Amino acid sequence: MILVLIGYMGCGKSLIGNDLAAKVAYNYVDLDDYIENQEHKSIKDIFENKGEIYFRKKETLYLNEVLDTLDNTILSLGGGTPCFAGNLDVIKQHVKTKVVYLKTSLDELTDRLFKERNKRPLIAHIKTEEELKDFIRKHLFERSFYYNQADFNVETDKKSADQISEEIISLLF
Ligand code: S3P
Repeated sequence: MILVLIGYMGCGKSLIGNDLAAKVAYNYVDLDDYIENQEHKSIKDIFENKGEIYFRKKETLYLNEVLDTLDNTILSLGGGTPCFAGNLDVIKQHVKTKVVYLKTSLDELTDRLFKERNKRPLIAHIKTEEELKDFIRKHLFERSFYYNQADFNVETDKKSADQISEEIISLLF
């Protein structure tokens, strides 16, 4: 199985993915890290120097590569990965995949992301917490269409990575 974690930036995909992989003795792959390794550039550099369209093309290319070559893997996607270029259909049509949406509230996302927005190209320009909240609200509204097509939804607010991993294990292992 390839267990695919999807959800908005800051929902904890990497933290939970790592924890879960260790618990079930699976490999762990973070698609953003995979892209950075293959391109020899940070995601921030790719956005700044090549632009988002270039990034989205590479994201689709490497997603397909990972899906076709790996098994027994927890795969964390970028927040936008399932929402572009038919990526979600490719994931869902794949025989080995199960998709879990890590669902985090708007308040919690705003709180987490405001502190670390400089590291994230899509929100680095945002000045105030209110502006960030509005941005996330609109973005989540557009993206929920894709996120809600996951096989399972797991709410993450006020839960530890350990609790969330155990919840996913009880659903899928
Ligand atoms: C993005 C999320 C990021 C990264 C890129 C674009 C998005 O990944 O792929 O900055 O469109 O939401 P994380 O969700 O892992 O931060």
